[in-house]
Amino acid sequence: MERKLFEPISINQVTLKNRIAMSPMCMYACEQEDGKVTPFHITHYESRAVGQTGLVMLEATSIQPEGRISPQDLGIWEDSQIKDLKHLTSRIHAHGAKSGIQLAHAGRKARNSGPILAPSPIAFNENLESPNEMTTGDIDETIKAFKNAARRAKEANFDIIEIHAAHGYLINQFLSPLTNHRNDEYGGTKENRYTFLQKAIEAVQSENDSPIFVRISASEYHKDGNSYEDFVYFSNQMKNQGVALVDCSSGGVVPAQITPYPGYQVPFAEKLKHDVGIKTGAVGLITNGAQAEEILRNNRADLVFIGRPMLLNPYWTKQVSDELDVKIEAPSSYQKIW
Ligand SMILES: Cc1cc2nc3c(=O)[nH]c(=O)nc-3n(C[C@H](O)[C@H](O)[C@H](O)COP(=O)(O)O)c2cc1C
Repeated sequence: MERKLFEPISINQVTLKNRIAMSPMCMYACEQEDGKVTPFHITHYESRAVGQTGLVMLEATSIQPEGRISPQDLGIWEDSQIKDLKHLTSRIHAHGAKSGIQLAHAGRKARNSGPILAPSPIAFNENLESPNEMTTGDIDETIKAFKNAARRAKEANFDIIEIHAAHGYLINQFLSPLTNHRNDEYGGTKENRYTFLQKAIEAVQSENDSPIFVRISASEYHKDGNSYEDFVYFSNQMKNQGVALVDCSSGGVVPAQITPYPGYQVPFAEKLKHDVGIKTGAVGLITNGAQAEEILRNNRADLVFIGRPMLLNPYWTKQVSDELDVKIEAPSSYQKIW
């Protein structure tokens, strides 16, 4: 049966065999606090590729050691990390999946022994350290780190780069008026608050021509946070810069109580897709094939990102193909029983 979920999609020069992406999820699995891929990462990501996921997106991978969410995060801050990342992409590609890497910096939410940097010296909560306000020199260094990370991602053969600008991490801290109280060209107006992301995108593009996705938190769940009009502005800017897809998550900027329900973030992907005319990804409590198919068939998003259901089941894609009565290709060793 024809199902949109299993139609291939071309995003610039990259074609995914279906519209299912593994959502980036930190695994806190580096053994030596060196940011390097371990056997666990190979098993973890390769098994989702065996399961026929179209796009396997790696977890938040830090562009600088001081930008880690935890000391066990993956890293792409030095050349010695390329070799194992390249092996990992080869294992993902071996099963027909495309590979993505989420480039990240935690800013004031970093938890490690290095300096904690953020646009403004405001702590996330009483349990986290108050960050140092970044100087323009710190900002330049960090943009350079995005550029170098993009070069390494290219050498490691990633097909897609996702810039992490969501969940209250560094770039989100620049975007939000709740966390950015700067008076220079990086703060104040929405135009200025966008400048850091603009430069990060340019830095990535200067080294890597892969399609760029940007994950945003499309609601900050706070009355003084960015408004929907601000997100339309940011997404229009991204579109003008050639960003291929906006991956629409929410929250994490400031502590907030929310009650998620099935598909609760899909309306962000749907509205931005239609108001801006850019591809979007939908994520969050999308748990079954019928729900994913409804989102794509009704043109509410271009990809679905699946997080926890795919943690629980590496064969989530196979499971929903059975649910939706679609025959998909099996890895050669499993052909007799799929
Ligand atoms: C263990 C875990 C780690 C996560 N790490 C990341 C991450 O590295 N980057 C990111 O953008 N989102 C991260 N997320 C959020 C997921 O990508 C996803 O947006 C969220 O879980 C909602 O989707 P779901 O309901 O399908 O799980 C993480 C979620 C989980 C459960």
